Amino acid sequence: MKIDFYKDSMVLLEGAIENVTAKLNLIRKYKIAQNDRDPIEYISSRIKSEDSMKEKLTRKGLEVTLENALTKVYDAVGMRIICAYIDDVYTIVDMLKKYKDLKLIKEKDYIKNPKPNGYRSYHIIFELSLDLAGETHPVFVEIQIRTIAMDFWSSLEHQMKYKKDIKNQELIVEELAKCASEIATTDIKMQTIRKMINKEE
Ligand code: GTP
Ligand code: MG
Repeated sequence: MKIDFYKDSMVLLEGAIENVTAKLNLIRKYKIAQNDRDPIEYISSRIKSEDSMKEKLTRKGLEVTLENALTKVYDAVGMRIICAYIDDVYTIVDMLKKYKDLKLIKEKDYIKNPKPNGYRSYHIIFELSLDLAGETHPVFVEIQIRTIAMDFWSSLEHQMKYKKDIKNQELIVEELAKCASEIATTDIKMQTIRKMINKEE
């Protein structure tokens, strides 16, 4: 018999996605109501698969238990927010940080400090307290926020990572880093163009 690893906690993990999605939708509506642009292109979310969670716990030298999956690993719940412009990424970060029921656990700005391979994205982990049946449960949510251009690069780079048996590995890593930097330049140019247009309105 297959026993669901997340057991009754699944309802909390799904609840956390719904809670943060509701906050994001509120931010979008607020910005539009202010005659501003919608800062979000799209949102995706996932609950880490059982296999991938077990692999991660083992890799981190942790016992494979539900308790460790929910308290020692922060990405059982993962959300990705894709924005048109770099400015929007920081708008979302600032607005999320204003929520008193989202406790900041960890943040990494891989946009200001890209990874050596060229990866760019804003990572933020919040702890959310969910009330259910008279009890309060902490749930961690890992949020990745990036532009469409950064997302395009990281999706392709992620796919290529698994093809380890290729020749010219070093050259490929170097070329990918170059692409990431060209994409970053384009992101800045696109934002400058938008600002020029806005001034003329
Ligand atoms: P984990 O233990 O895997 O969570 O790593 P970490 O604690 O160092 O977190 P980090 O913020 O660096 O990465 C978390 C997630 O960001 C990963 O699971 C990926 O989804 C994404 N990510 C990080 N680095 C890269 C990268 O170089 N390329 C791509 N495509 N995605 C990345
Ligand atoms: Mg991860």
